[in-house]
Amino acid sequence: MKYYLTTPLYYVNDQPHIGHAYTTIAADAIARYKRLQGYDLFFLTGTDEHGQKIEREAQERGIEAQMLADYMMERYKSLWQMLSISYSRFIRTTEDSHKKAATHLFLTLLNKGDIYKGRYEGPYCTPCETFVKEKVCPDCGRTCEIISEETYFFGLSRYRDQLLSYIQENHNFIMPTYRRNEMTNIIGEELFDLSITRSTFNWGIPVPITGAKDVMYVWFEALINYLTGVGYPDDKEMFERYWPCDLHLVGKDILRFHTIIWPAMLISSGLTLPKKVFGHGWWTIDGEKMSKSKGNVIDPYEIIDEFGADGFRYFLLREIAFGLDGNFSRKALIHRLNSDLANDLGNLFARVMKMVESFAEGKVPQKADGEYLRELSLNIGKEIDEEISELKFHSYIEKVWVLVREANKYVDQKKPWMLKGDNLNSTLYNLLESLRILSIFLFPIMPNLSLRMAESFGLSEKDLSLVNLTWGELHSGTRIRYTAPLFMRIILK
Ligand code: MSP
Repeated sequence: MKYYLTTPLYYVNDQPHIGHAYTTIAADAIARYKRLQGYDLFFLTGTDEHGQKIEREAQERGIEAQMLADYMMERYKSLWQMLSISYSRFIRTTEDSHKKAATHLFLTLLNKGDIYKGRYEGPYCTPCETFVKEKVCPDCGRTCEIISEETYFFGLSRYRDQLLSYIQENHNFIMPTYRRNEMTNIIGEELFDLSITRSTFNWGIPVPITGAKDVMYVWFEALINYLTGVGYPDDKEMFERYWPCDLHLVGKDILRFHTIIWPAMLISSGLTLPKKVFGHGWWTIDGEKMSKSKGNVIDPYEIIDEFGADGFRYFLLREIAFGLDGNFSRKALIHRLNSDLANDLGNLFARVMKMVESFAEGKVPQKADGEYLRELSLNIGKEIDEEISELKFHSYIEKVWVLVREANKYVDQKKPWMLKGDNLNSTLYNLLESLRILSIFLFPIMPNLSLRMAESFGLSEKDLSLVNLTWGELHSGTRIRYTAPLFMRIILK
């Protein structure tokens, strides 16, 4: 069983912000979950380094475009490290392997007869790197430049019917479902051939047509990274192992590139289409789009510094249904972390661990049948699978929290401090075993916190698995160590 998932490649004109972190954290949660299920998983992320926007930004900073790309790429990589992003490969569009793949695909489309020469005259939005029809960009609201260039076109409009029938026949291709209509309307009403080369600047992959001095249009080339990432065109073994892609995770703003242009390029080149593209919502600040000019960009490094990587991951995935827009606020973040992590989960963990230390000599007692906690844990294990398949992270977490709350209630009802002998031992075992199962469920969302839980009962990452989830895996006699609270309450000064 293989699973191949991707994030968009992030532009290197500026520092990463929480929007970029959001897509990547969500992808990481899925990757970790699929690994727990034993999938042969490939998780691709990276940076989109070519194009006019980046060339201009470098010029403004008085440096070479490659230098800007090298610097920002490191910022992304270090953020992913801080956030424990477990990617399989970090791809850069300036790598030779990618230049080769993009060139190969361009030539395939050319040989197919789908690329022809023409002229593009019309508006272009450089911040979004898109050809648009109106003078004001429908995505960012900025006034566009009017460009007039000799170009090569890709015959996108030829694929209208094939695209529509693929979408109709594959109900899960575009998710969430409410976005599917938007895409079919665009295909039905306004599908034009796409200019895929630029001739007025140099920062890009050269067009492989004799005599042409142009570079490839940055979106056309960047999309091909999803093939490069798994070995296209040379490493056939790897390519066959992972292609087609199971999930392209993107923001709603770039869904149309992934569900219209990209599949048409693939049909033209004779390759299989991806199985699913999910367009998630946007984080706003006080209801407004984040932007440098408004000065309201949330710096993920600062949030991690203050609240920790796991807390940040938890908040982003818990607070808003993936797919919908959400408002980012420190107040909501602090409230969420204090109530769910410091109180519910942190208290449960601390109480149980301290009781095992005080009443069971710090060792896992004799195995017990779990009473209702056993059935609850195993049922939740089944239910969360559906939540992950539909990318409903917030309901995944809600389901897991049922176990957290029930285990807390179990402590209150049983009052282990009043129990003795077998009753005491079985109560403590049931609680410890619930915590072990919780550490597995939490691994995709908060990997470090989950590992700290697992380590405190003598387990490590290799012991975390969702293959045949069963009750009673914690061995009696294992030494338990409670060294620190799972999550410190945040106190506003
Ligand atoms: N380079 C292109 C993608 C090419 S993929 C072959 C690009 N890059 S981007 O850096 O501008 O954006 C990358 C992702 O970040 C997009 O999925 C976008 O939706 C997401 N976000 C950017 N700002 C965001 C928010 N404020 N909130 C949530 N996600 C947002 O597009």
